[in-house]
Amino acid sequence: MHLLGLAATAATYLLLPGATADPLPFERIQLHERDIASLGKASSLLSFGDAPVADPATSHRRAPPTGCKVFPGDKKWPADKAWSNFNNTLNGALIKTVPLAAPCYAGPNYDANRCSYVTANWANSSLHEMDPASVMTGLYQGHTCQIPSNPDDTCTLGGLPSYVVNATTVKQVQLAVNFARNADIRLIVRNTGHDFSGKSGGAGSLSIWTHNLNAIEYVPRFEDQKQGYSGPAFRGGSGVIGRDLFKAAGDKGLLVIGGEGQDVGILGGYLQNGGHSPMSSVYGLAADQVLSISLVTADGRFLTASSTENTDLFWALRGGGASTWGVVTSVTVRAHPSMPISTAQFIFTAKSSAAFWLGVRSYWERFIPYADAGTYSYFMIIPGAPAPTFIMLGFWAPNMTTTETTALLTPWLDDLSALDISVKPAYATYPTTYPALIATWPQEAVQDNAIIGSRLFPRSAWEAPNSETFNKTWEAWSTTNNLLISFNIRAPNALGVDNAVLPAWRETVLHTMQGSGFAPNADDATKRAVRQALTVSMANWKAATPGAGAYIGESDAEEVGWQESFFGKNYDRLLKIKNKYDRDGVFWAKQAVGSECMAVQSNGPIPDENGKLCRVK
Ligand SMILES: Cc1cc2nc3c(=O)[nH]c(=O)nc-3n(C[C@H](O)[C@H](O)[C@H](O)COP(=O)(O)OP(=O)(O)OC[C@H]3O[C@@H](n4cnc5c(N)ncnc54)[C@H](O)[C@@H]3O)c2cc1C
Ligand SMILES: *[C@@H]1O[C@H](CO)[C@@H](O)[C@H](O)[C@H]1NC(C)=O
Ligand SMILES: *[C@@H]1O[C@H](CO)[C@@H](O)[C@H](O)[C@H]1NC(C)=O
Ligand SMILES: *[C@@H]1O[C@H](CO)[C@@H](O)[C@H](O)[C@H]1NC(C)=O
Ligand SMILES: *[C@@H]1O[C@H](CO)[C@@H](O)[C@H](O)[C@H]1NC(C)=O
Ligand SMILES: *[C@@H]1O[C@H](CO)[C@@H](O)[C@H](O)[C@H]1NC(C)=O
Repeated sequence: MHLLGLAATAATYLLLPGATADPLPFERIQLHERDIASLGKASSLLSFGDAPVADPATSHRRAPPTGCKVFPGDKKWPADKAWSNFNNTLNGALIKTVPLAAPCYAGPNYDANRCSYVTANWANSSLHEMDPASVMTGLYQGHTCQIPSNPDDTCTLGGLPSYVVNATTVKQVQLAVNFARNADIRLIVRNTGHDFSGKSGGAGSLSIWTHNLNAIEYVPRFEDQKQGYSGPAFRGGSGVIGRDLFKAAGDKGLLVIGGEGQDVGILGGYLQNGGHSPMSSVYGLAADQVLSISLVTADGRFLTASSTENTDLFWALRGGGASTWGVVTSVTVRAHPSMPISTAQFIFTAKSSAAFWLGVRSYWERFIPYADAGTYSYFMIIPGAPAPTFIMLGFWAPNMTTTETTALLTPWLDDLSALDISVKPAYATYPTTYPALIATWPQEAVQDNAIIGSRLFPRSAWEAPNSETFNKTWEAWSTTNNLLISFNIRAPNALGVDNAVLPAWRETVLHTMQGSGFAPNADDATKRAVRQALTVSMANWKAATPGAGAYIGESDAEEVGWQESFFGKNYDRLLKIKNKYDRDGVFWAKQAVGSECMAVQSNGPIPDENGKLCRVK
């Protein structure tokens, strides 16, 4: 295998001008100051906000007024007429939310045929992605209109937004941001709705749906003198999903960095959170690939952040978290030459738990050499008796042949044989990256009842095999009795960029989640107990990995000390940038930078998005 050719891009950039970013066609349709007056009755709710002000004297935002964001039923909630005027300015793109499962419940939306269809496809993420409001983690929506449906139950919005703007132009995004800010109502940004912590929903909100901002443009040669890049790039709307951009790149003999979930967004929340990928052990994270980002900020203005414009925002947007800085409308990312991929997939269990864990330990001991060889693996361990089951969803080896991959895996597989564990890997090779992505990672089923926690285990724990630290880390990880969803991965700063990616990412060889859940009809006491057990188990992981962090994109919705876990030493700098661009907290999501000043009033056994969003003293 040869993974060292990375720096060898064209050296001509030094003579060329800085980054340029022509807007995509849908971004040329913008709201201007002169338009506001002509909007008639709607205009008072649609004016722009105050321009950003950096205040170096304080790291805290303008003192928030007391009270809550305006909620349906409140006196200040906009009247139907105001919503209808707003809808007119949007050219009819405003949707009043109807829960996806509403056809299964008595009432005006009841529809037996549609109900059968929704019931049969409930676990299919495409169904939810095509819906304007669905939040795939139903747990955080509050399960107020679920499948399977119970005819005696009611169907209410729960944590779903009140209204959704089906955006197809930047102007509509600007109008929506201005409306929410001026009316002081909660604002949500939703792309696919895949967020594990339910951050793409929120009760009593106006939601901006980015799904239809899905244009893709090929840029044969993007010049970014500051970042030292001259080469091919793709610019896409923030609604683009992995599969579509992978194909566009594949058609040009190129690859772009995206997650293994091929129906998950890659230019929306994924990338702002960092974004890990099967190619990360080679090229780093998705946030490292960004050349330019266009967005609508809290004041309603459309701007571009790049290495030469709005550089503070450009830094923050690449790893500093989603739903925080504005509504991203498009992103330009680097493309790399496509390369051959070799993969292996297999499954095993054992006759005893002891043999099983010895077999897994033999793998664990190889995490540094596997990651440093540029490979990535995505695997699960499912609790069971007499032993758990190990599923290698994909051992992914960029630029390797099957012979090379077999050589890498054989010492581990030999250890499994010696433990009387039978395993028959299915190997495959692909001449280019796109077909490998599509064949290796099928669309995953929706898990709407799971709670998870995660940790980026530090490479340092592996540096002295069988040392006390090594053993303590292994013990903490292998004894949770929870479902383990894990990635042997590294995410070096391979491109030498300066962004807000959590430093713990640069040091890890294991991004690992643990998950547990309960039956949909579980009582509150059971839910609380499951939640509490996960909190205890997460504390064990943290105690074994002091100073490490956790990946916000796949994380615990109740993470203790989330500022430190998700943002590390970047937090103070990120907070200053947040306070400059969004002093009033127009963009708010649980655990987002600067979110401490507000909280959702939730009474459920698992905190959800059903209540009012209120200022915290
Ligand atoms: C099947 C599956 C596979 C996954 N695989 C990977 C993987 O390989 N690597 C990885 O890193 N993660 C992975 N994830 C986690 C994934 O990155 C997150 O779910 C991610 O947040 C999804 O982003 P989205 O924009 O599609 O989803 P959404 O749920 O719509 O949005 C996620 C968050 O981003 C915000 N957001 C969305 N669009 C914008 C925008 N345009 N501007 C500002 N904020 C925005 C939302 O408000 C929300 O807070 C996977 C998840 C699933 C369900
Ligand atoms: C892939 O391997 C080939 C030789 O087999 C080498 O020339 C090339 O540089 C490698 N690509 C990367 C990205 O390392
Ligand atoms: C917005 O206008 C369109 C077109 O007139 C209409 O179909 C839609 O129902 C309206 N939305 C709301 C919330 O009234
Ligand atoms: C999910 O739905 C999509 C779109 O309708 C369909 O193409 C796909 O085959 C479905 N997947 C499964 C597993 O049923
Ligand atoms: C959203 O807008 C697009 C483009 O106008 C349209 O095709 C689509 O049907 C709309 N979706 C919904 C759910 O209204
Ligand atoms: C770590 O565990 C291994 C395997 O159980 C054992 O051989 C070794 O002595 C342990 N190391 C320490 C420092 O206890």
